Amino acid sequence: MPSPYIIAGFGYYVPERVVTNAEMETLVETSDEWITTRTGIKERRFAAPGQATSDLALEAAKAALADAGINAGELTHIVLATLTPDCYCPNAAVIVSEKLGVSEKVCLDVNAACSGFLYALEVTRGLLALHPDAVVLTVAVEVLTSRTNFDDRTTCVLFGDGAGAVVMRNQKNIAAKASIRDIALSSNGALWNLLTVKGGGSAFPLRRGEQAGDEFFIQMAGREVYKHAVRYMETICRDLLAKNNLTPDDINLFIPHQANLRIIEGLGKRLEISMDKVFVNVQKYGNTSAASIPIALTEAYQSGAIRPGHRVLLTSFGGGFTWGAVLLEF
Ligand code: ACO
Repeated sequence: MPSPYIIAGFGYYVPERVVTNAEMETLVETSDEWITTRTGIKERRFAAPGQATSDLALEAAKAALADAGINAGELTHIVLATLTPDCYCPNAAVIVSEKLGVSEKVCLDVNAACSGFLYALEVTRGLLALHPDAVVLTVAVEVLTSRTNFDDRTTCVLFGDGAGAVVMRNQKNIAAKASIRDIALSSNGALWNLLTVKGGGSAFPLRRGEQAGDEFFIQMAGREVYKHAVRYMETICRDLLAKNNLTPDDINLFIPHQANLRIIEGLGKRLEISMDKVFVNVQKYGNTSAASIPIALTEAYQSGAIRPGHRVLLTSFGGGFTWGAVLLEF
């Protein structure tokens, strides 16, 4: 029986500029040794001046469309996850549609910070349930460097820029690369103040002539985030597996949010998933927030780490707090 909610194509894009830990040492008082032991990050990518969120999304979108073998004109919807849109209005999805050279699509942005891609997949699933013939570009993208405080060594070494995308539709007479078996999402608004980008919002307006203060940039209570991230991701993964009568042993590849190697290792240990079944690329890109999962998913798919028949578990955690897990079947 054809499965609904299939992924027809994967793509990702990262900016050309590689910024090593050695270069970060020239910006703030830090060291390769500190960054490596605390986070596992060795380098990250920075968007070029003038390169906006929609530009990164466009490249990931083109790659996913090519992989799916469809033209942008065939899309019906664009769902874009980001916390760093090009601007407040219009949304970034509509700018991507313009850059793809198409119009009259339904375009919307989703903001769930680092969990944005998983939230966007759930929105996409809803759209495909409502519109069986829909063809959806689901893209997650960040230019986090636009909201990074390069005077704050506790955050600036962690983040990078990038984009990842999938093309989704219900299965007809087309080859499915993967299908979504289930999704679980959650949040805890009581903890919203622990990870924020406040400045410029209506509660923290930037008035004409004023200089942006620290609250304009990413602010994070690192230890608190760490603690909650591991607990919440473990619980939601266990719940999603149990709901589907699966155990961690049934997972062929685990792709957690690429924020910090210590979080990834701690999570693998708690879930009893050995590190040879955990996909890690945080050393190359740092934390790209919403883009982290689709970049890792596409790299895993393209590298052969995922093969037909595999069951893949995704999980993420971010500002809000928001978190989630997705079960994919290839
Ligand atoms: N270089 C050198 N020293 C530093 C740096 C740096 N870049 N940053 C902080 N330090 C110092 C601190 O000043 C502190 O010094 P002190 O002891 O003299 O006061 C010391 O290192 C320890 O600082 P902590 O903040 O306690 O370091 P910790 O071990 O907690 O590691 C880290 C910090 C890496 C941020 C960790 O808390 C973490 O990974 N948190 C989770 C963050 C995360 O994953 N966020 C992503 C989820 S949400 C999202 O993706 C947006």
